[in-house]
Amino acid sequence: MRSFIPPHRTLMGPGPSDIYPQVLQALSRPTIGHLDPLFIQMMDELKSLLKYAFQTENEFTIALSAPGSAGMEACFVNLIEHGEKVIVCRNGVFGERMRQNVERCGGIAIVVDDEWGSPVSAQKLQNAVEEHSDAVAVAFVHAETSTGALSDAEALSKIARSEDMLVIVDAVTSLGGVPLKVDEWQLDAVYSGSQKCLSCTPGLSPLTFSSKAIAKIESRQHPVQSWFLDQSLVLGYWSGEGKRAYHHTAPVNSLYALHESLLLLQEEGLEQAWKRHADTHQRLKEGLTSLGINFVVDEEYRLPQLNAVYVPTGVDEALVRQRLLNEYNLEIGAGLGDLAGKAWRIGLMGYGARKENVALCLQALKEVLN
Ligand SMILES: Cc1ncc(COP(=O)(O)O)c(C=O)c1O
Repeated sequence: MRSFIPPHRTLMGPGPSDIYPQVLQALSRPTIGHLDPLFIQMMDELKSLLKYAFQTENEFTIALSAPGSAGMEACFVNLIEHGEKVIVCRNGVFGERMRQNVERCGGIAIVVDDEWGSPVSAQKLQNAVEEHSDAVAVAFVHAETSTGALSDAEALSKIARSEDMLVIVDAVTSLGGVPLKVDEWQLDAVYSGSQKCLSCTPGLSPLTFSSKAIAKIESRQHPVQSWFLDQSLVLGYWSGEGKRAYHHTAPVNSLYALHESLLLLQEEGLEQAWKRHADTHQRLKEGLTSLGINFVVDEEYRLPQLNAVYVPTGVDEALVRQRLLNEYNLEIGAGLGDLAGKAWRIGLMGYGARKENVALCLQALKEVLN
């Protein structure tokens, strides 16, 4: 065996996305102790950079040392107790995973279903909230990566809050790519992933809890079943004046990388980053349309960072992806769940949301389809 040297791919799938060169450099800086005062200073900066990205003043804003799926699980295991009802909106793969999480916590999931490719329907949620006013929370996916649909988090949050329910939001694909305003929209528990529009190394999950979510955790009848994800234990590690209690060994270098990618986001500015994603999507859309390729999601609800498109009739979708990978070093995603075999998912996330990537993808697709 020899060292593993990966090829230089262009990642235009549903994630991970291409990592910023500066982030890759940050990753290779010398490892220091995770309780070193300088590392703790860096974590404090990381918290304020995350607050900016999430647009929140929530004191509990951290990066979990695990991928987005752990962020999802952390929300449910901490906020939901046995026998509690949660309204789960399901319009793709990740809404279904939320339902499974609720049930594994011993909760009762009330599912509000929408078509794959459609956003979560505010009217259906309104009906469910009225019918199940004893539910403690509403959970939904802001940007459904399996279909490319964006839901109106602000409107859905308002409906949940009309019955004083907690609002749990999956922002794995939305953070940094489209507007997400945790405080303004009064979202209570929001998790994301490092590997999508933040263009950082995979394996970290930014997470923020409102004071209402913290109060729910503090009033639990039973301790959180998962030791690792119990956020009341993690809190001592991420806060405290210059002093931290050991919880687990932080992924030191990955946190340098996240610090760097959030710094790049702050330097660019959120509004500019959202605009860059929208502009790049526009370019891709025009090119795909001229190739006769159609989008799965109606224009109004399309995610700029995740373009789900139908595979043209008579085309072997797997063969096209394989040729793009082998001949152009270009990765695009396959369809997932209901869209498996029928769609491709083309990501324009973070560092990948650039004109050069759009040009490469369009040229390569054109040549392969011809
Ligand atoms: C919307 C959404 N939620 C959750 C996840 C899970 O994140 P991870 O793969 O980092 O565990 C993903 C990953 O693609 C996602 O797109």
